[in-house]
Amino acid sequence: MPTSTIRINGFVLEMPCKTIICNFIKRGVVLEFKHIPVLLNECIEGLNIKPDGIYVDGTIGGAGHSRKIIEKLSPKGLLIGIDRDNDALKAAEQNLKPYTNYKLVHGNHDDIQDILSELNIDKVDGILLDLGVSSYQLDEKERGFSYTSDNILDMRMDQTQKLSALEVVNEYSEQELANVIYQYGEERFAKKIAKNICIARKKEKITTTKMLADIIEKSKPYSKDGHPAKRTFQAIRIEVNNEIKPLYDTILNSINCLKTGGRLCVITFHSLEDRAVKEAYIEAHGKCTCPKDLPYCICNYKTLGNIINRKPIEASEEELKTNSRAKSAKLRIFERREKES
Ligand SMILES: C[S@@+](CC[C@H](N)C(=O)[O-])C[C@H]1O[C@@H](n2cnc3c(N)ncnc32)[C@H](O)[C@@H]1O
Repeated sequence: MPTSTIRINGFVLEMPCKTIICNFIKRGVVLEFKHIPVLLNECIEGLNIKPDGIYVDGTIGGAGHSRKIIEKLSPKGLLIGIDRDNDALKAAEQNLKPYTNYKLVHGNHDDIQDILSELNIDKVDGILLDLGVSSYQLDEKERGFSYTSDNILDMRMDQTQKLSALEVVNEYSEQELANVIYQYGEERFAKKIAKNICIARKKEKITTTKMLADIIEKSKPYSKDGHPAKRTFQAIRIEVNNEIKPLYDTILNSINCLKTGGRLCVITFHSLEDRAVKEAYIEAHGKCTCPKDLPYCICNYKTLGNIINRKPIEASEEELKTNSRAKSAKLRIFERREKES
């Protein structure tokens, strides 16, 4: 069972995995950031944390994973938390309150090399990427990610970015919409949904999550496969936040930011994300070109390091009982070893 450390009245308790709940204030309103970190112990083990090391959490969210990382660091160690969502950074700050050896950055982990060079850091000991959205983002209805409420279509993780779900739904061509919904949502009824969106928006601009969910519901036959709008909403969210296209390069860039022996842990929730991570790891590992019958390698192929687990690590039965989000989670770990193989 994954655990997390909780301090109450000076006592340090190791508790079964809990939802990380922290309150933060936005526009005078107290908001609650609720999120259960996925594959928590597996990530901590995978990062192989050195107490004096520098670690980057490129998707800090409410700092569920980061809190556990920082607990393992000495005061000489440093945690850098990146998130493109300012709400997440506020929640992370609350959750990391007992500590001072961290820096939070509002930014995109696709720019990890620039972010580190702005901080005058050359290489780090470990990087974690826990991709996708947080439960907080999905639950906070006014962020417009949810098909179960009636709010402005938004879905931006970074609220300073221009493109939102409003533009994707109202301005993309029928073909572009069908491609997005099919590719990122793996939705069999993508063409029909795209067609019906285009018919509906000719009459009236589609401005709310409910308007979109209603169109999708009318475009598909009933099925037991969850809410009819689930796949389309996921697809539009992935498009709005450009979650897949830069990932392959981000993984290679992250590996390039590691010191020798440093580890990269990536948790994915979508088959296209997992494929990008797997392919980037294979590229970074390099390929021996020696004839198969040679007893040892003589080709000296260039490698950036080793793939620690060929098969992705998935959540245990126990974790699945407490966190349904962990169902599709896959963890892949890479270790930097800069030597000619
Ligand atoms: C699954 S949550 C991470 C939760 C976190 N590990 C925890 O335990 O609290 C993903 C977070 O990454 C952020 N995020 C997603 N893509 C990002 C990107 N390209 N750059 C920076 N942050 C990103 C989201 O805004 C969200 O807060």
